[in-house]
Amino acid sequence: MEHPSEIPRRFPLAALPTPLHRLPRLSKHLGGPEIWIKRDDLTGLAFGGNKTRKLEFLLSDAIAQGADTILTAGAAQSNHCRQTAAAAARAGLRCELVLGGAPPAAAPQGNLLLDRLLGATVQWTSMEHRISRMEERAAELRAEGGRPYVIPYGGSNGIGAAAYVAAMAETVGQLSGRAAAVTSMVVASSSGGTQAGLCLGAKLARYGGTIIGISIDKGERAPDPYEAEMARIANAAGEWLRLEERCSPDDFRVEYRFLGGGYGVVGDVERESIQLLARLEGILLDPVYTGRAMGGLLQMIRSGEIGRDESVLFWHTGGAPALFAYAEELTTS
Ligand SMILES: Cc1ncc(COP(=O)(O)O)c(C=O)c1O
Repeated sequence: MEHPSEIPRRFPLAALPTPLHRLPRLSKHLGGPEIWIKRDDLTGLAFGGNKTRKLEFLLSDAIAQGADTILTAGAAQSNHCRQTAAAAARAGLRCELVLGGAPPAAAPQGNLLLDRLLGATVQWTSMEHRISRMEERAAELRAEGGRPYVIPYGGSNGIGAAAYVAAMAETVGQLSGRAAAVTSMVVASSSGGTQAGLCLGAKLARYGGTIIGISIDKGERAPDPYEAEMARIANAAGEWLRLEERCSPDDFRVEYRFLGGGYGVVGDVERESIQLLARLEGILLDPVYTGRAMGGLLQMIRSGEIGRDESVLFWHTGGAPALFAYAEELTTS
């Protein structure tokens, strides 16, 4: 996609680079390995998270196209929607969100409360019809003379994923010169843009370890596996960035074992990891994504799949505002 030269490719939203540090008390508690955490929960925009990086590229494209309204979709407690609402506010654009489910009977909590405060318009529809409703709404706005810019679920297209190509370069730079090489990175994976960008970024930045995506909501699929979908997103990012590197489905490792009770259902795995990180390191994970991904990492360490002499990096992709919508589930034990 051509960019008019006067439009910067990144609309600045994030406080970068995000911190990278060790989790010494968690490592000690587990008896090894060395554990690093990349704090993309601290990207800084309206409580931060991984979408802020993607939105820098997406908003830049929206502005280049002369958009007046940003449209996107997600779940009621979508971190992506909350960060999109904040990004649109920063760019002086209107924001309309199509959320799956029904409006809450009581006052909104967590991300939904923040969507309102950030000035987004919220429409509700069934989970299956979110995309079609968003497209319908875009057509309505166009018919009224508006200029909507549609951002897919999770900001996961080539433009959004390009931000995680850059995030990998940032992280490899931060790690260079440290004593032990990181052998595995673990990241929550849902709409795929984050892992896709990291995978392409790894080729570019010459990160030689593995990247393990913990699937948050998808089981193994045929005939169109999640790995193939991520390769398409990564390659769209490669094209957009005019890179030569490409990814294939085989480049992606995804663990589908930690789906628990399904999307957004907090179980013992999430509860334990959230409490452990909070009590040992003073770090707040989220109930839907990073709580589950950290739960997966803990299990892989305890089972020996990740060795005690390794060095592992956990991507904290944000989401803590959703904690406030899960008060009952998080205080049951
Ligand atoms: C906190 C958090 N972590 C991870 C993810 C997953 O990122 P992706 O959708 O790029 O796979 C999301 C997506 O919504 C998220 O909100």
